[in-house]
Amino acid sequence: MCGIVGYIGRRQAYPVLIKGLKRLEYRGYDSAGVALITETKGLEVYKTKGKVADLEAYVEDKDVTGTVGIAHTRWATHGEPNATNAHPHISCSGNLALIHNGIIENYTVLKEALQRHGVAFKSSTDTEVLVQLIDYIQQHLKTDLLTAVRLALRQVIGAYAIAILDRNEPNQIIAARKSSPLVVGIGDDEFFLGSDASPIIEYTDKVVYLDDNDIAVLRRGAKEAEFVNFDNEKIEHDVKTVDLDLGQIEKGGYPHFMLKEIFEQPKSLRDCMRGRVNVEANNVVLSAVIDYRKELINARRYIIVACGTSWHASLIGKQLLESICQIPVEVEYASEFRYSNPVIDSRDVVIAISQSGETADTLAAIQLAKERGAFIFGICNAIGSSIPRATNTGCYIHVGPEIGVASTKAFTGQVTVLTMLALALGKARGTINNTDYVNLVRELDSIPQKMEKVLEQNDHVRDISRVFTYARNFLYLGRGYNYPVALEGALKLKEISYIHAEGYPAAEMKHGPIALIDDEMPVVVVATQNPLYDKLMSNIQEIKARNGRVIAIVTEGDEKVKALADEFVELPQTIECLEPLLSTIPLQLLAYHIAVQKGKNVDQPRNLAKSVTVE
Ligand code: M6R
Repeated sequence: MCGIVGYIGRRQAYPVLIKGLKRLEYRGYDSAGVALITETKGLEVYKTKGKVADLEAYVEDKDVTGTVGIAHTRWATHGEPNATNAHPHISCSGNLALIHNGIIENYTVLKEALQRHGVAFKSSTDTEVLVQLIDYIQQHLKTDLLTAVRLALRQVIGAYAIAILDRNEPNQIIAARKSSPLVVGIGDDEFFLGSDASPIIEYTDKVVYLDDNDIAVLRRGAKEAEFVNFDNEKIEHDVKTVDLDLGQIEKGGYPHFMLKEIFEQPKSLRDCMRGRVNVEANNVVLSAVIDYRKELINARRYIIVACGTSWHASLIGKQLLESICQIPVEVEYASEFRYSNPVIDSRDVVIAISQSGETADTLAAIQLAKERGAFIFGICNAIGSSIPRATNTGCYIHVGPEIGVASTKAFTGQVTVLTMLALALGKARGTINNTDYVNLVRELDSIPQKMEKVLEQNDHVRDISRVFTYARNFLYLGRGYNYPVALEGALKLKEISYIHAEGYPAAEMKHGPIALIDDEMPVVVVATQNPLYDKLMSNIQEIKARNGRVIAIVTEGDEKVKALADEFVELPQTIECLEPLLSTIPLQLLAYHIAVQKGKNVDQPRNLAKSVTVE
């Protein structure tokens, strides 16, 4: 959840670190800080509550010289967001500065032990225990930093990505990882550190992804980074090349990343389908399905685990896989699954869906399923992240980096991969007839073009949003494939505009939520022309009979719903199971424009962070 950056080399470290923090700010923005070995004063730490821009203002008159440093942007877990709890934390001796992403579960025990030995703590964070413990070991055993880090980490339970500077060993950074992501960038006579590759790619495309229990030693002037385990045994890592360009992680003229990412969807889906959907051959090819055909087609059951938006995509995946492949599918919140003692064994396939590939609950669910012998298939976006590395196989969604905290293009990418998976498996299992298969392949291929038509209505959706900015509650209704779309629309609105919103299967409305409807309640109804259309018409009538305000998402040319609704957005016709790829777009735009009208920080909504790497 927090962002970590480090640099050692020939350049001035501060500009590299600040730029890196800005790229990682999506991971948390409660406070920010930097530690540098400066040219005049040695180890200096500057930190402040608030965003990276606040840190920049704070250090304006300070010495930020030096060619080695570490920096941090925080999403608070233990201890309120203030300057004292901000990272880097400094050890008692004043020699060490440390930044951390993760949670130290046994910090109370360690803290009490250190306090008994006279160590005075300044902050209320779990992190500070790490720097004090390493310092204590260093002082008492008279060891170098690497030895102290190794010995300290043996006593630590929890998740961490850390980086440490030592004023007495100014020509190195030591970093370590367990269950929180960390990437080392390898340049010419210089090294970089990042929670992901985004702070690094401007300088080098050569990276090493740390594994759990790895310690990295980045020494000035060394040709290579060194990696060791807690026993000081050398670890060899392949240097990977990252395929990411700067344009992908910048706003590109849009006022917010979220709007950019909503508009990117036609392109990102083309990227997602490239090399996989072939309309000339009327075919969908997924290498994972070719390589693991036996495991995937013979499974007795699929279980999809995910959180948040990825969980909503999973609900659509269940309908796709069940109807096209005739495989029973269960969908679980990863956070519940991990503690539910599930009945699962080697006949099951677990599909883990995650944009970031770092969600702690989803990773833990994978771990549990693996222990019970299930075959694990990952659907992720972030290349090289922890979840794809923990699975047996999988598919990247390839929609490019998603920076806005509210997930948009990842959702449509996940649904697209699930559709391709259902088609590939359905064909392999013989559960879909050729006509339906070919129609679906062709229609899927045409979705990006249809998305462009939906996006042309952006101004219209903005006008609708102006009418409803006053609302304090919203209902979202949908049926069948559009029920998860209703859930997703409600989540988008909640997280960026702070308006209370609920998604419901439309027919459930009469079992309770209908009591909420009055002339102030906007109800967004996905009422496209599919086999459930007439039922939805009745639901809309029920809302109108109680003076509710209906914003309808309709199929082009539909006059009946339009006549009933207060507002409407039209979608091109498509096959029912592909409708979510279109119907979700007006809901993303509606949430976006309402939040903007209300003056909210769309890309950095309060209390949230992009990847939830803590429980
Ligand atoms: O990276 P993941 O897909 O695993 O993240 C899961 C959720 O944390 C995420 O979808 C969250 O709900 C988003 N903020 C929704 O917009």
